[in-house]
Amino acid sequence: MNIGQITTDLGNDWSGYRNIMVSTLFNDNPLITAVNNYLIETGGKQLRPMLALLSGGACGERNSKVLHCAAVAEMIHTATLLHDDVTDDGNIRRGKPTVKALFTPAASVLSGDYWLARALYLLCSECDSKILECFTTAVEYLAEGEMIQMDLSQTLKMTEETYYGIITKKTSSLFIAATKGAAIAVNAPEEWIDAMACYSLYLGQAFQIRDDIFDYSPSLHTGKATGADVRERKITLPLICAMREATEQQTAIIMDKIARQSTDVAEAALDFVAKHNGVGSAQAQLAKRAELAKESLSPLPETKEKRHLLEIADYLCTRNS
Ligand code: FPP
Ligand code: MG
Repeated sequence: MNIGQITTDLGNDWSGYRNIMVSTLFNDNPLITAVNNYLIETGGKQLRPMLALLSGGACGERNSKVLHCAAVAEMIHTATLLHDDVTDDGNIRRGKPTVKALFTPAASVLSGDYWLARALYLLCSECDSKILECFTTAVEYLAEGEMIQMDLSQTLKMTEETYYGIITKKTSSLFIAATKGAAIAVNAPEEWIDAMACYSLYLGQAFQIRDDIFDYSPSLHTGKATGADVRERKITLPLICAMREATEQQTAIIMDKIARQSTDVAEAALDFVAKHNGVGSAQAQLAKRAELAKESLSPLPETKEKRHLLEIADYLCTRNS
């Protein structure tokens, strides 16, 4: 599937969302403007605003509040990445230097605060309290998910269950806010709002599993560095799955390297995951999540938007960026 086709189909609503975002971010300070321009020029797929716009269309008639939900989702997402690249010491994103690397870590944190504050301003001025609640809950979960992840990077006591708990908070939560907020904005029936939230829960998990697979897939050329997760003591699904297949002794050796941060930790983890089919097993779980996401949409009527939502679930299984 060509994701660009969806933005073309969204037509004026896509440019409408972009205009809202760009005008809300306007500031006459040169540093803020430089960072904003860089972020807008190097922007990614804008999956969250796409989901908001599709949800609004799948559940009713897209209106101005839906376009605002789309802008808010992308602005909060960008704010989280600006903060994330400081906490993760990330220097490359989408194949380009991060704001943290190109400007400074402080500029990254503060511009993240700026994008978040402007998103909250849009919510308070243009949307009602139920939509505001969707997004504030997401912000709370995003921070909580990151904190739990940080805490576990100390103890290394990661299980599959805790992994899913973390990715639901750090990734699905904003997908849920984007689609649920848009469904509320068009006064969708409760059953459809719940269907969109359920779709987004599974879709967010599938998205993050694929992201975690990138870290163990040098051949995919994703624009992201490989081996970064274990260097940050992050235990993700490919490694968890590989550990299930390995012997206790093999697992103990790799865990010891992660705990000590041995110089060869990244190569050793890549090798361990490859030897025990960690990527293949994680990919199978991703596919299961994508199927569950698609099934969740069954209460919704057959529309072009619903078709695109189904296509996105398939696309996430094989995306390389
Ligand atoms: C990317 O994950 C990061 C997230 C999905 C969430 C980041 C959230 C925060 C830093 C806390 C909340 C911040 C705000 C402004 C509300 P990753 O590091 O696994 O992926 P990556 O490889 O893309 O960096
Ligand atoms: Mg990161």
